[in-house]
Amino acid sequence: TTVEWEAASYDMGGHDTYMHKEIHEQADAVDRVLRGRIDDRFSTVHLGGLNLDAREARRIRRVKILGCGTSYHAGMIGAQMIEELARIPADAEPASEFRYRNAVVDPDTLYIAVSQSGETYDVLAAVQELKRKGARVLGVVNVVGSAIAREADGGIYVHAGPEVCVVSTKCFTNTTVAFALLALHLGRTRDLSVRDGKRIIEGLRKLPAQISEILKQEELVRELAEEYAESRSMLFIGRVRGYPVAREASLKLKEITYIHAEAYPASELKHGPLALIEPALPTVAIVPDDDLLEKNRAALEEIKARSGKILAVAHQEQEKADRTIVVPKNEDELDPILMGIPLQLLAYHAAKVLGRDIDKPRNLAKSVTVE
Ligand code: G6P
Repeated sequence: TTVEWEAASYDMGGHDTYMHKEIHEQADAVDRVLRGRIDDRFSTVHLGGLNLDAREARRIRRVKILGCGTSYHAGMIGAQMIEELARIPADAEPASEFRYRNAVVDPDTLYIAVSQSGETYDVLAAVQELKRKGARVLGVVNVVGSAIAREADGGIYVHAGPEVCVVSTKCFTNTTVAFALLALHLGRTRDLSVRDGKRIIEGLRKLPAQISEILKQEELVRELAEEYAESRSMLFIGRVRGYPVAREASLKLKEITYIHAEAYPASELKHGPLALIEPALPTVAIVPDDDLLEKNRAALEEIKARSGKILAVAHQEQEKADRTIVVPKNEDELDPILMGIPLQLLAYHAAKVLGRDIDKPRNLAKSVTVE
């Protein structure tokens, strides 16, 4: 399916910035990436443009995901979903690193290039290098007919619609949903049960309403942003599913507020960043209600014991945190799609307090088409 975009999509529609508009378009955008793709009969999804038949899909022994910036972070989430649902070893790497390290290209690996614009030079060059070496490359791309989409052997359009703000919000979310679809599809050609397939499909269907629910908390997040905008630096932590969410939230904050932010796996706190903890360095912690909840709570305790200030994004109020943004629970595997959304708003409102040029942060471009 192709979706045509009219000039009206570029209208700000009462929002003060494209970023704000695009954050608020996410429920509709997710609805679009799901539309027409769910197959209830076999508890799977149809991805028309994949160009990968079941026999080929079963031969994949590894998945390597390449992207830059926010797309790389969406790829990190995608890699975890593919490992969890399809049990294929998967990881993500910045495309820019990959193309310079003379990587071993393996014919049984499926390579996936992720790009909103489909024009990022480092990603395109990685795709061309891979194809030159005979690899199969799929694209997970937003802009229809873009260079990466044309160069790839097949792929998934994420249908986020036009994204104008330099920093990516709705396209990030849609890309993670597209990866959930791919993971489900690969899982169901392998050992993922019908029951688990159904469970994931139900979870996917809940996403648009849950996104709307999260966005209703904007006023609370705006108040928090006023407080956090004064920070010189912030630490973002998460564990496994929460870690890429922390990475993306930290990137978003630094891109538009120019506040220094660093993301760390919660488990690595004791190997360095604990030395930084003091009241002036707030921590944002991603605390999903999954099997790692107790481990994450222990990390909050470590921070609290050193007088660190904590903002948690969690499925239930966190006692050790100073403040918690409570988000709706989905299936464990799909939670990362939702947990970063309040932090897009946090970055946006902090940037507003600081009077930043939100849609056009200094020194950054929407797509980097040169080396
Ligand atoms: C630039 C933008 C980022 C974006 C990255 C990758 O650095 O400023 O927001 O995530 O490029 O862009 P792509 O279009 O390939 O997703």
